[in-house]
Amino acid sequence: MIKNDLFLRALKGETLDRPPVWMMRQAGRYLPEFMELKEKYDFFTRCQTPELASEITVQPIRRYGMDAAILFSDILVIPQAMNIEVEMKPNFGPYLPNPIRTVEDLDRVVVPNIQDSLGYVLDAISMTKEKLQDEIPLIGFAGSPWTILCYCVEGQGSKSFDKARGFCFTQPEAAHQLLQKITDTTIAYLKAKVKAGVNAVQIFDSWGGMLSPVDYQEFSWKYIQQIVDALKDEAPVIVFGKGCWFALKEMSQSGASALGVDWTCSAQNARYLTGGKITLQGNFDPARLLSPPEVIKNMVTQMIREFGKDRYVVNLGHGILPHIPLENAKAFIDAVKDYSE
Ligand code: CP3
Repeated sequence: MIKNDLFLRALKGETLDRPPVWMMRQAGRYLPEFMELKEKYDFFTRCQTPELASEITVQPIRRYGMDAAILFSDILVIPQAMNIEVEMKPNFGPYLPNPIRTVEDLDRVVVPNIQDSLGYVLDAISMTKEKLQDEIPLIGFAGSPWTILCYCVEGQGSKSFDKARGFCFTQPEAAHQLLQKITDTTIAYLKAKVKAGVNAVQIFDSWGGMLSPVDYQEFSWKYIQQIVDALKDEAPVIVFGKGCWFALKEMSQSGASALGVDWTCSAQNARYLTGGKITLQGNFDPARLLSPPEVIKNMVTQMIREFGKDRYVVNLGHGILPHIPLENAKAFIDAVKDYSE
């Protein structure tokens, strides 16, 4: 039994006194205690050492008391486990020295055994559950197959992922083979995470908004739906598609428990597109955390009024930015905790 189960109850659509709150990328660079560990250990060492990953996961909880924790890890541990080399270069971001560009490149891509290749994530979950003492739920996550393909093909971050889109449009068969391998791995991975103890899972489709609505169906949504189908009876599934408001209607009929929205879609439009029946999560502009704390508090209260306190999880519309003042992050969380009708 989880003591503070506001988040899980919001995912079920129950009536609550206030909505739950957490922040995407809440374990990160705006926290001095995170920066201390970042100086000592490189990125994948932090991911692969359960003691470090679990510590980083609970750091923001100790400081601010969010209603859910999200396991410290990365979406790119999946391609790594699939035999695609991934480096995290300081001040650059992800770098994949041998990107996938042809059907022949697919031969070296494997669907791995999860325990063998990603057992360290499962160990980090057990250790985090011990530290959390059932106070709040723990969220596990994965990237969407399309978003993972973006990095596998592009080889690094990008503003438009032209190579990834070009790969899909010039070699659709190879693209679908890669997407299916990623999907199969992701399903096994998320199932293992649930078994290891996470209470909900979130799928990050960070680059879904790069695709036209029609291409989104073919190259992204089809595979996310497979993941939702495979997971929904084991744990609540949240789908966050950045820039994907055009797909909200279809997403609301998918069996997902909640949908993430970014700040370019109004609460009213998101409710309209999803028929008012599904839990929504979002959508504070991450850069708005640069406003003074009083402004943040007023805007958060207004945001809750617009979404409504029920079937709602307060969050940012994308990950928190690195240079957010600590008191501003606190104002965001406190505004939700102080909310009353
Ligand atoms: O939310 C959390 O607090 C849990 C941890 C988490 C990380 N990455 C840690 C991380 C989560 C949920 C992610 C997801 C992730 N990773 C996404 C989807 C969410 C989104 O923001 O769109 C994506 C696209 C990635 C890929 C990735 N990892 C990029 C592009 C980068 C570099 C840019 C950046 O944000 O720094 C990373 C590195 C990364 N992942 C860091 C952290 C804390 C920063 C680097 C470091 O700590 O050394």
